[in-house]
This record gives sequence, structure tokens and C-alpha cells, in this order.
Amino acid sequence: MAETSDIYEKVMDVARRRGFVWPSSEIYGSVAGFIDYGPLGAMMKRNIENLWRSFYVFQEGYYEIECPTVGVEAIFVASGHVKEFADKMVQCPHCGEYLRADHIADDNGIANAGTLSAEALQAALHELPCPVCEEPLGEAGVFAFNLMFETTIGPGSQRKGYLRPETAQGIFTDFSRLLRFYRDKLPFGAVQIGKSYRNEISPRQGMIRLREFSQAEAEIFVHPDEKDHPAFYRYADYTVPLLTIERQLEDQEPAGFTMRAAVDEGVIVNEYVAYYIALTHQILTAIGVDPARLRFRQHLPDERAHYAADCWDAEVYSGRFGWVEIVGIADRTDYDLRSHAGHSGNSMTVFIPYDEPKLVKRRRIVADMGVLGPRFRGKAKAIADALAASNPGEDGARITVDGEEIFIPADLYQIREEEEEVRGEEVMPHVIEPSYGIDRMIYVALEHSYDEDEVDGEVRKVLRLPAAVAPVQVAVFPLMNRDSLDEIAQAITGRLTRCRILAQYDDSGAIGRRYRRQDEIGTPYAITVDYDTLEDNTVTIRDRDSTEQIRVPIERLPQILPALISGAVTFPELKV
Ligand code: ATP
Ligand code: GLY
Repeated sequence: MAETSDIYEKVMDVARRRGFVWPSSEIYGSVAGFIDYGPLGAMMKRNIENLWRSFYVFQEGYYEIECPTVGVEAIFVASGHVKEFADKMVQCPHCGEYLRADHIADDNGIANAGTLSAEALQAALHELPCPVCEEPLGEAGVFAFNLMFETTIGPGSQRKGYLRPETAQGIFTDFSRLLRFYRDKLPFGAVQIGKSYRNEISPRQGMIRLREFSQAEAEIFVHPDEKDHPAFYRYADYTVPLLTIERQLEDQEPAGFTMRAAVDEGVIVNEYVAYYIALTHQILTAIGVDPARLRFRQHLPDERAHYAADCWDAEVYSGRFGWVEIVGIADRTDYDLRSHAGHSGNSMTVFIPYDEPKLVKRRRIVADMGVLGPRFRGKAKAIADALAASNPGEDGARITVDGEEIFIPADLYQIREEEEEVRGEEVMPHVIEPSYGIDRMIYVALEHSYDEDEVDGEVRKVLRLPAAVAPVQVAVFPLMNRDSLDEIAQAITGRLTRCRILAQYDDSGAIGRRYRRQDEIGTPYAITVDYDTLEDNTVTIRDRDSTEQIRVPIERLPQILPALISGAVTFPELKV
């Protein structure tokens, strides 16, 4: 494993130099919290997103939707973001820098800093130095700063809007249409991959804390009383390191649990949450996260988001940043749907039919219109409706119509007990949400795959990225740029490209240099066309990680390479 002391600089040096990640709008002076993905970074990002899709869209069957990144104010009033989506901020009285108050406390060893109130944080910060100028923060006040970017929609500032701080809300506002798409049955899910925006207070952690970032979120709508996942068997025996609330309070390390044991022992609240914890473990290790530096931490009760009943973070250890949240997996209950139903007036329920219709006793209050009509005239209908919804006492019912309180004596209506056949019930689904940060996934995949070893007496920088994630999957080299070796190599590149493999032809410089260039960007396989090729139509395939080579017939490349890249065959298996 590469030395971790300055791992961030090493990774970012490769990332910048080789076109993975660049500062955004550099020529005008970059702004913190925004990055550009260069050609290789953008390719790697697509590969990670597609790997994510292969699980959530293909395996789980949750279709993808795409909603605008700008949302009207009403969405975020209903979601709670206008009121609640704020971080605690402090301004240094000496250098004027704006800082996250909980991060300063955290960095200075104050326990559970993220859960402290503004007053408690202010007291905790009193003696602490500003991380920028190192002067004491003293009396600096701690206050809430809403992280949403505000905008106006249309000329003349007609409507207020916000850049979405999560992709999830688009799925919630489309709930009724999705329900119809899924033929009115639970459970169902929808996913969205796209940009989210948060006006982070002091984004000084490179790709980890951005103001514009990409999320991949799944919202799974389930019956509130049926939280057993129908395909739980897939992950029941899958073991994941869990840092439970209890273990955090007792300062213990995470412990390995199978998902079955975690649910049975009540460590994870239900099968759905456990299922997506295991699936997340599988995805993160598939993109190149080292399983020894991956854990799932349960949120402490006062740390949970305003909507969550239970929440776990997939955390990955970074040599620079320590444990970093990469994915949040929450049981959001019916918080969002209930709130959008209340604010929009739309029904956000699902009709669940009973196996057999049930006979239910109902009490109906029926007004005597013969008397009410002449007495109340135009108001009689409204009074009858209010009576129907009222809860009368012995003498009569007290109702309010158009703001006026009216007493209706008991002889002006009848109370009838009736039996009614009921075929089912309206249920407000609960939402299980795994929420992935794509940029954080890219950074930790780069950091964990970065390595240095020695090849031919030289230090080699290598990204040991899984083939499915590497931006370039195969390099094709002619040993020499003559004697038709180059033409054969170009023809091979074309053939591989037609198999939808990203193959890069390179004929410049010594062959050793060309291998190094590909190792540094993580290309898992390199094909070399040499003079033996002219004799027997074979080429060498070199494996990035072992640097070993095997000869194979050109004809077999379209079968061998997809098998290697998909993981169906391993390089050592090819040798036998
Ligand atoms: P943090 O505590 O690190 O700010 P969070 O708890 O606010 O993260 P969530 O609101 O749960 O994060 O967002 C879901 C996912 O979106 C996170 O797990 C993370 O991967 C990603 N994410 C959130 N904020 C950012 C950001 N500023 N930059 C990059 N990715 C982010
Ligand atoms: N959708 C979870 C979050 O971004 O907070």
C-alpha cells in the first residue's frame, strides 16, 4: 500500500496532471467548492455512475428519472429545507473567515460536536484558536446559515426558487405519477443521478466538500408495516462492519455482522435498511474502496437529519481526511410524502385492497334539510357538511361555518349507525433512501487505488482501479512505429472499440514509458503488437497490477478483453 502521509497531494497531482480533476474557471481565479472533471475524470465518473445503475436500475429494477435542478420555493418549504437545512457558522473576529463551528469543535476533540446547540458550541469555541489565523475565537457568535442557493425564476423576480440540495425531492414531487407508472403497487422505487447544490461554509476538502456535486439517490416506497425486503436472501449472509450507536458510546471499534443477525438482534431497524447497507458495501468495494477502510456508522439520535428515523453512513478512511461519509442510508418514514401532501393538497397515498372486503360500522350525521333550508337558506349546505364532520354533544353540535360559530340543536339532525363494505385502505408509504455522493466515491476510489512500486529499478506510480471503473480500459501499442506494426495495432484498437471497450492507441516514445503512462491513469490491460505478431498473429496482453504478460491470438481479443474487464475471467486464469 502507498504511504499515506501525503497521499492527498500525490493523488491530486496525478489527478490534475493527467486530466481527472481540475480547478473550475481557473483562468479567472477558482472559487472553492467547484471542480471540473477533465477527460479521464469525466470518463471515470460515467463508469462509476453506470456501475451504480447496474445495481439500482438493473438488479433492483428501480427506473431512473431526471428532474430540474431548480425547484420552486414551495418544494423546499414542504421538505423542511427552508427552515432546517442550516449549518452552524462562526466568523473569526480577527481574520474575518467564515467557519463551520462544529468542525472546529470536532477537530479539537470535542465529542459529538455535530449534535451540540449553537449556545453549547459557542461556549466550546471560546478558548479555541481560529484554524486560519490561530487567534482565539473568544466571544464570536455561532449562528445558523442555510445552505441552499437561492434564485429567482423569470424576469421581475416573480417566483423564488432554490437550487436543489438533494435529488430526492424531485422523486417525491413525482410520487403520484410514479405510483401510476408502477401500476399502483408497493413496493416500488425510483432513482436519480444528478447535480445537487449546497452553499457550504468553508469547503476546504477538495472533492469531499463541494458546492456543486453529483448525487445518486434511490427512493424506495414501501408499506409502513412491511419492511421485509422481498429479495433479502441476496444479502442475508453478507457481513458488514457496523459501528452501532452502542459501540460509539462505548468507544469501541466496529464489529462484523451478517445482515440477518443485524436485523434479528435489532441492531439495524429493518430488512430494507440492512439490504441497502450490504448493497452499498458491495458497490463501494466494486469501485475500488479497500474493505479494511470501510465501515457503516449509525447516526446518534440527535445527529439524524430532520426527516430520518434510522440512518447509517458508509464511511471510508482517507489518509488525509480521516473517516469520510460517502453514502447515507436512511429510513425517512412518511415524513416527505406527508409533508408534500399537506402543503400541496395532493393525495400521496396508495390504495391497498384487502384480501376480502370488510364490513365496517360508521356513524353518519344527517341534517334535517326541511328545517335547515328555510332557516339558514344559502348557508344550509355548508352547515350540513360541517355537521357531517362534527362531533356532536348530547344537546347539539357546535360547528364553524365561514368563521362563524353556530350551535345546531340535536332535533335538527339524525345520527345513523350504518354498515359499510370497505374494500381496502389508503396507506401513506414509508421511504427507504440510500444516497450516494459520486464525487466522494471518485476521490476515495482514486486514493485507495493509488500505489507506488518498483518496476525495472524505477518507482512506478499506479492506480490499481477496477477495470469497470478505469477511464481507459485497454491501451494498444505497436512496438515500433513501422513495418506495419502500427497498422495492425490501429486495426486492433478499432475492433475493440466496436466491442464498446475504451481502447487507446499510443505509438509515441519508448514502450516502457508508454506502459508507465497507462499505469498512472489506471489502464488495467495493455496490448503490444511486436515482430512475432507478423509471424503468428499473436500479441501480448500485459496486466497492470502484476506487470506479467501473456501471448494470445489477435482473433481471441474480442472475447478475452470483455471477459477480463467484466471480471468473468481473471488474468492469472488466462495463463493456464
Ligand atoms: P456531511 O456531513 O459530510 O456534510 P451530509 O450528511 O450533509 O454530509 P447527506 O446530506 O447525507 O450528506 O448527503 C448524501 C451524500 O451526498 C453524502 O453521503 C455525500 O456523499 C454527498 N454530499 C453531501 N454534501 C456534499 C458536498 N458538499 N460535496 C460532495 N458530496 C456531498
Ligand atoms: N437525500 C439525502 C440528502 O442529500 O441529504
